[in-house]
Amino acid sequence: MKEIQQILVVERSGQIEAELQTALQAVRGRRASTRTCRSLREGIEDSRVQVPDVVVVELGRDLEEVRAFAEEMAAVAPEAAVAVAYGRSAFEDEGAEGDALIRLTRSGVRDFLRRPVSSADLRQLLDRCSRGGGPPPGSIGILVSFMSNKGGVGKSTIAVNTAVELGRRFPGRVILIDCSLQHGICASMLNMKPERTISDTARELGRLDETLLRQHTTPHDSGLHVLAAPPGIIAASEIDEKDVSRILGLARRAYDYVVVDTFPTVDAIAICILDMSDRVHVVVQPIVPLVLGAVGMFAALEGLGVPKSTIRVVMNRGVRPFAGELDATMVGARLGMAVDYIVPFERRLAVALNSGTPHILRHPWRSGFSRAVRSIAERISELKPGIRARAVTYGGEEQPEGEEERTVLVPSTGSEREGTA
Ligand SMILES: Nc1ncnc2c1ncn2[C@@H]1O[C@H](COP(=O)(O)OP(=O)(O)OP(=O)(O)O)[C@@H](O)[C@H]1O
Ligand SMILES: [Mg+2]
Repeated sequence: MKEIQQILVVERSGQIEAELQTALQAVRGRRASTRTCRSLREGIEDSRVQVPDVVVVELGRDLEEVRAFAEEMAAVAPEAAVAVAYGRSAFEDEGAEGDALIRLTRSGVRDFLRRPVSSADLRQLLDRCSRGGGPPPGSIGILVSFMSNKGGVGKSTIAVNTAVELGRRFPGRVILIDCSLQHGICASMLNMKPERTISDTARELGRLDETLLRQHTTPHDSGLHVLAAPPGIIAASEIDEKDVSRILGLARRAYDYVVVDTFPTVDAIAICILDMSDRVHVVVQPIVPLVLGAVGMFAALEGLGVPKSTIRVVMNRGVRPFAGELDATMVGARLGMAVDYIVPFERRLAVALNSGTPHILRHPWRSGFSRAVRSIAERISELKPGIRARAVTYGGEEQPEGEEERTVLVPSTGSEREGTA
């Protein structure tokens, strides 16, 4: 017997419920019941009594009202997924629509339905909110991103190695999404020749579900799945923040861990990624002009309302050690935020790049770089307690005794701040 999903519709006119009923008739394999409340207040009170699986709320004239509703709903009935239904006339132009969707997502809105509601969109919504398939509501995957204000500081290197380490621990449950759309190299760092990329995913958003998303990824031997960057710059330019938002939202439902690599610009896509990140790793190199530049990045994050608690500072020594270089305390003092991880210089990274085998797999133990990456992955995996990692050993290098203990605290502020010796 299939589960019957409960949809609560919050609208004045009754039209959305009629649209949903029509759309439901063409949705095969899912059963749902609808009920309607005529005001936002009534919707909240109703959900207190009987928690629905999905709340579809009409976007009227007042965006702020709907935002407040979504926030209150998250407190009253966190298991219910709030989706906003809106027509073309709701916004003056595409820009206004993009802004509104971002703000609504920040308030906890999980999905958007264009009116008249199509059966394909409704089907996806119900699939995502099903308690039977995929993770139950409230237990969606953890999304972590790697960002920087400056190019070439090691984001992709650290993101790829961290994702591989997570993939090794949780095979089939980790996705790396290359959102460095125009210049993404994650797939080639892993010696992959992807048949599908995020461009295909964006093109097929209309019928995208968790199964299709998985089919668009390329599996790596480690257990990691990779959604590769577009095949070219023009294809990349066709993807916007709404596409990225939906792809990331779906990825969080399909996987336990979503690792996102980015491009160093704070644009609408980056803001969308920031909004959806449970943890943002800001990668900086300890070189004075780069650190000074990063100060602006931290100010931007603050301005965008990214909570400090979600930010981790990764100091990557991407250049050979030299006399008089900045240490973690100096970098932290300049940034106004302590360094969480120190990633040492690793000359063998170039070999890893040329071979297509990530460094963490080539030299898992006798490498400060790999130790730092393991620390980052370890802390990420703690964000989703209760999931058991696969107990496997790395091929090749043997784990020397006491290796794990060499991870040490950085002598700066914060109790859980960590790095490597
Ligand atoms: N800890 C390190 N030790 C030695 N080399 C490093 C280290 N981290 C990164 N590199 C090297 O620095 C170069 C740039 O790294 P990467 O491509 O990861 O930077 P990025 O921040 O992703 O760049 P972009 O902004 O262009 O995407 C690569 O050649 C990489 O091998
Ligand atoms: Mg990169």
